[in-house]
Amino acid sequence: MPGLLRQDGSHGYYTFERPVESVAVVGAGPSGLPAARHLRDAGFKVRVFERQPYAGGTWTFEPDLPLQPKYPSVPPSIGDFVPSLPPQNTEQLPVEKVQKDADKAERKEFSPPNPVYKSLTNNVPTPCMEFKDFPWPEGTTWHVSHSEISKYIQSYAVHFGLNEFTSYRTRVEKIEQLDPPAGQSQPKWRLTLRKVEDVEGESAKSTWWTEDFDAVVVASGHYGAVYIPKIEGVSEWAERWKEEIIHSRAYRSAEEYAGVNVLIVGTGTSGVDIARDISPHVDKLWQIRKNEFHGPDHYQRQRTFQLKMLPANGEHLPEIKRFLPLSGKEASLREGKIELTDGRIVDGFDRIIFATGYQYSVPFLPDYHRDIGAPQTSRHQSSERVLITDGRGVQNLLRDVFYIPEPTLTFLGLSINTATFSFFEYQSLAITRVFSQKARIPDLEGRKAEYVRLLGEKGGSKYMHLMGHENEVNYVKDTVEWLNSEGAILGAPPIEGHSEQWMEVKKALFGALLKKAGLNPDDFNATPSDPVETKKDKPTEETTEKVEEKVERVDKKIGLDLAGDNVVPAAAVAAAA
Ligand SMILES: Cc1cc2nc3c(=O)[nH]c(=O)nc-3n(C[C@H](O)[C@H](O)[C@H](O)COP(=O)(O)OP(=O)(O)OC[C@H]3O[C@@H](n4cnc5c(N)ncnc54)[C@H](O)[C@@H]3O)c2cc1C
Ligand SMILES: NC(=O)c1ccc[n+]([C@@H]2O[C@H](COP(=O)([O-])OP(=O)(O)OC[C@H]3O[C@@H](n4cnc5c(N)ncnc54)[C@H](OP(=O)(O)O)[C@@H]3O)[C@@H](O)[C@H]2O)c1
Repeated sequence: MPGLLRQDGSHGYYTFERPVESVAVVGAGPSGLPAARHLRDAGFKVRVFERQPYAGGTWTFEPDLPLQPKYPSVPPSIGDFVPSLPPQNTEQLPVEKVQKDADKAERKEFSPPNPVYKSLTNNVPTPCMEFKDFPWPEGTTWHVSHSEISKYIQSYAVHFGLNEFTSYRTRVEKIEQLDPPAGQSQPKWRLTLRKVEDVEGESAKSTWWTEDFDAVVVASGHYGAVYIPKIEGVSEWAERWKEEIIHSRAYRSAEEYAGVNVLIVGTGTSGVDIARDISPHVDKLWQIRKNEFHGPDHYQRQRTFQLKMLPANGEHLPEIKRFLPLSGKEASLREGKIELTDGRIVDGFDRIIFATGYQYSVPFLPDYHRDIGAPQTSRHQSSERVLITDGRGVQNLLRDVFYIPEPTLTFLGLSINTATFSFFEYQSLAITRVFSQKARIPDLEGRKAEYVRLLGEKGGSKYMHLMGHENEVNYVKDTVEWLNSEGAILGAPPIEGHSEQWMEVKKALFGALLKKAGLNPDDFNATPSDPVETKKDKPTEETTEKVEEKVERVDKKIGLDLAGDNVVPAAAVAAAA
């Protein structure tokens, strides 16, 4: 079976020294919730920890703005947050501490407002973002507001009784691998937890405690740690114009941009969506595009297509070389001058939005992070054990899920360019079956060999997590075949793969996206899609892949701007925080 167990049986299997009984799930978003449901249904003692006051993950709109990030961004080991551990000299847990928090900074740092803006709708049609056994309400259209998506996820938690074992307002501050008993190698995992509650609105009460588990599912998302490129002068500018320069995570509504000149850095999904959102309101709009594309063909096609989404009143500019030093006499941002990589000096911007994406960051696993340029301080930071280095991906995982050295540590939701909800549910079924010993994964050598094979096939860094339609469909097909063949041997009922409807809708995604953006699918040779028609009719032969093939290719030269360029020592930033 590709990617999992070799048909020739040339490897052994991972064996549990003792059964998994208790599982911690970090995060109550679209990944963590189905995992919690399936694990609980399989008989595990499950606890979910969620820093927000509710389920929903990234999808819940909060008008509050997050705290201003550092420009350039901090290293991934503290990208999402700087862990807060129990006060020093604490002899016994739980321990409590109340601190003044009149401006809510402490609470915002603890659980930052989500990167959701008023006009945000889903870009993957709802039928492909559906959990098993939990259909969307009748009449739901393909593209709905974030509030409907948030409601759907929260209803899922209620329907399956998941809130009963979820601790909200609780952040996982640290996960440690405990030494196993003598003669054994399967570790337990200790979670250091912190609950933060309001005290009369003015103060925040923190309570720390620990809980131990046999296994962990990290489903903490990867849109919490912003990526802001290291460009000369960016720090000085962001310090001077704190409100005018933001990351897309702090973008909330188009009306705020009425009559102003805006520069958006980045032409990824956020950059494009925000550009199209604000274009009817702004005076002028520019978008900084990458000078060179990189990555697999389907990634480059996506980026090329995103360039074509430039609004009619927008203009692309090449990458920024530097933000020129400020004299201190500038009356406003409009007077600041930027040097572009083609040598031009430009000015006249009232607002700058960095839509430059995010870093992978699991600060609660500090021993498994090794920032670029940082010395090795833990055995888990060796190349075969480390999880995160440059923030572009999570390493040493079997199929983006099982931590190769210790498969009782697992991850969900890392893969990108997928129909997230349904895809992550298949990953959570795989975790459940493996923990239940109803499906086997290869032994250490087999897991490593599979990882090396995938590295060779996909390339390292963020491409490891990059799926795209074909990879996604194959991944799910392989997973279902593996789980079902294992289930037949080990006694578990079959799991259904993607339905015909899912496949049909997914194929029409590209055309639907164009329609959502107000573009004519015919201009792009895309399959027109309509929620009702497509459910009944077969899509035309013009599939997404064929359409994408027709999209013009641009430079293919590989040019990585490693997030690891941001070598601000984590310890220094943590100390300053
Ligand atoms: C602006 C934007 C638009 C998007 N649009 C789409 C779309 O249209 N279609 C699509 O399929 N996907 C979209 N996505 C991707 C989106 O992230 C996924 O749909 C989905 O939310 C991923 O689910 P998740 O549970 O893996 O992560 P998240 O939704 O990020 O949930 C993770 C949860 O973990 C919690 N958490 C994190 N760290 C801790 C901790 N230490 N302790 C306790 N709790 C913690 C967080 O509070 C959060 O609730 C979008 C993402 C963004 C940012
Ligand atoms: N539902 C929706 O409509 C919607 C809206 C917004 C976001 N989203 C989702 O949110 C997630 C995050 O998307 P995102 O767009 O924020 O992040 P992203 O996909 O990582 O895009 C970031 C973009 O910034 C570019 N970039 C990085 N450094 C740059 C620099 N120095 N100069 C110019 N460009 C630079 C990147 O180029 P490279 O590609 O070359 O690295 C990339 O194109 C995705 O899952 C996306 O689908 C969905």
